[in-house]
Amino acid sequence: MDHHEYIEENRAHWDELAEHHPETDFYDVEAFLNGESSLRRLEREELDIADRRLLHLQCHFGMDTLSWVRNEGVAHATGVDFSPTAIETARELRDEIGLTPERAGFVESDIYELPSNLDESFEVVFTSYGTIYWLPDLGRWADVVATHLEPGGTFYIADGHPLTNPFAYESTAESLQVAHPYFNTEAVTEEFDGSYAGWDFGLENQRSHGFSHSMEDIVTALIDAGLRIEFLHEHPWATFDRFEAMEPDGDDRWRLPEIEYELPFTFSLKATNPA
Ligand SMILES: C[S@@+](CC[C@H](N)C(=O)[O-])C[C@H]1O[C@@H](n2cnc3c(N)ncnc32)[C@H](O)[C@@H]1O
Repeated sequence: MDHHEYIEENRAHWDELAEHHPETDFYDVEAFLNGESSLRRLEREELDIADRRLLHLQCHFGMDTLSWVRNEGVAHATGVDFSPTAIETARELRDEIGLTPERAGFVESDIYELPSNLDESFEVVFTSYGTIYWLPDLGRWADVVATHLEPGGTFYIADGHPLTNPFAYESTAESLQVAHPYFNTEAVTEEFDGSYAGWDFGLENQRSHGFSHSMEDIVTALIDAGLRIEFLHEHPWATFDRFEAMEPDGDDRWRLPEIEYELPFTFSLKATNPA
């Protein structure tokens, strides 16, 4: 399959997930509508971007995009996703919480097509949790980031640590089972009637294709696109139950119980576009 075919199958899969995710406890739309931020503590603590203009790549149905504006004082946010259903829901949620399109806009676009669909650059480009895994080519992704980042602007990503990609969901601290590649040597094609947010949705488009990008690939792609890395942090917890055996620590974070030595389950990276 070529990149275009991967992306079209992923789009069909994600468009269906976007119908079901707003109904799940994982996303808790009700709490969001009641004013709660959907952002995690990590990005809120590491990114001080009040009054700035933000581009949010792979925004899903927009709760994080809208939270940056409503809860964190961002001047304007534009969310981008290739799922028409996700973008439609994002616009509905925006209207429901009373934000205007001037404060929060949404663009339906494949990330790779974004320079043709959005002729604007931003002070901040943000992406988080489960985004680059769906992209076959990180070099082209990093070029899109750089294209839409103003000189002097900030890029930030928080996501599952690449080290977790190879291990099966059933892994425990005593037995980490290597079930997938660490290096991006082949697409990880899977068929599930569900996602991290729920099961048995009755999906027609169950097949999806992921790409396991190593830490080297991520950092090198950004450097090659001309960005300067400001920090790369590794965190010994996940933001959801990445493994069946994980337990919540009561503080928005999930850990593998009884692990003798900590492993990185999440990373965050900040870079700038040199002026
Ligand atoms: C795991 S979700 C992101 C989740 C987000 N952090 C959240 O919790 O709402 C991945 C998103 O990437 C989008 N996506 C996947 N491939 C894409 C592509 N090539 N272009 C644009 N969006 C894409 C999907 O539609 C989905 O909304």
